[in-house]
Amino acid sequence: MAHREHEHVQLPMPNGWFAVAFSRDLRVGDVRPIEYFGEEMVLFRTRDARARVLDAFCPHLGAHFGYGGRVMGETLRCPFHGWQFDGESGACSRIPYCERIPKRARVKSWTTQEKNGFIWVWHHAEDKPPEWDFPSLPEFENPDWSEPRSFEKVLDAPVQDTHENNNDPVHFQFVHGQPDTPPGEIHYDEDSTHYQIRNTSEQEMPNGSFVMTLVRDSWGLGLTAVRSEGIPGAGLLMYSSTTPINDRQVHSRWLLTCSNNMVDVAGEEFMNRLTTGVQQDLAIWRNKVHRAKPVLCEADTYLAGFRKWARQFYSRPVGSVSKAEGGS
Ligand code: FES
Ligand SMILES: [Fe+2]
Repeated sequence: MAHREHEHVQLPMPNGWFAVAFSRDLRVGDVRPIEYFGEEMVLFRTRDARARVLDAFCPHLGAHFGYGGRVMGETLRCPFHGWQFDGESGACSRIPYCERIPKRARVKSWTTQEKNGFIWVWHHAEDKPPEWDFPSLPEFENPDWSEPRSFEKVLDAPVQDTHENNNDPVHFQFVHGQPDTPPGEIHYDEDSTHYQIRNTSEQEMPNGSFVMTLVRDSWGLGLTAVRSEGIPGAGLLMYSSTTPINDRQVHSRWLLTCSNNMVDVAGEEFMNRLTTGVQQDLAIWRNKVHRAKPVLCEADTYLAGFRKWARQFYSRPVGSVSKAEGGS
């Protein structure tokens, strides 16, 4: 008897770096409620231009900092009684009407960093500090590359399922209408959170037909860069971040940039290919279940390798989350 509730295996919330905003969307003094990993938080930018993330609710009487909270120097002031909390440590640094600050007056502060056009937070189910990092990409600093264009969408899928797409070459043929499944090679760094897939095929571009290599680099479950190489003196880069909102939804954000000599000829096509590509995946993701032990055939070698690699990003084994804890 096929029923979603019986067939679906709930994935735990993964550990790693996940983007919570585009850098350019958060100005100095901005305060914003955000919700990721099934938790409520507040995101703000201090007067020194540092992006900070704190848990949402004030330890005093429980006001939500994201609704009326105000940046004061490097702190955030609660909208209810004006207590101020340091963005870096989460400790209360000032109570405007009281000298002594209670020891327990602090909120959890999330480790953040800003890189490649995004604000990232480190999520760990056991609150462990960052265990790995990912590189800055030279394209974002290069004046010969275009101002990145952005695209974002909330998708109904667990983050592992959206990532798994990259390791599922056959679906490009059936879901995305590619004529065939191009041969590829995959390389996992030893003991690492990074891997690379390379696919070479002939591609039609507006300025001709080229033998191109699609290079996909992934760091953790939420971060992938796809580069198109093979056009002499030119290149395209799609940088995507996928952040779990809760067990069933993710917030995906993309930055797309290309060498300036490609913007006019291929910029629009590049953007359109991405937006239509994602639309094609939506119905599959929304309606599928997650199988912890899928029946794979001998051609599904990437998928088997990916599942094994993905396990390192969970503090608990897949399938260990009960329905009472939020399983669907
Ligand atoms: S609830 Fe935040 S200061 Fe009172
Ligand atoms: Fe896809």
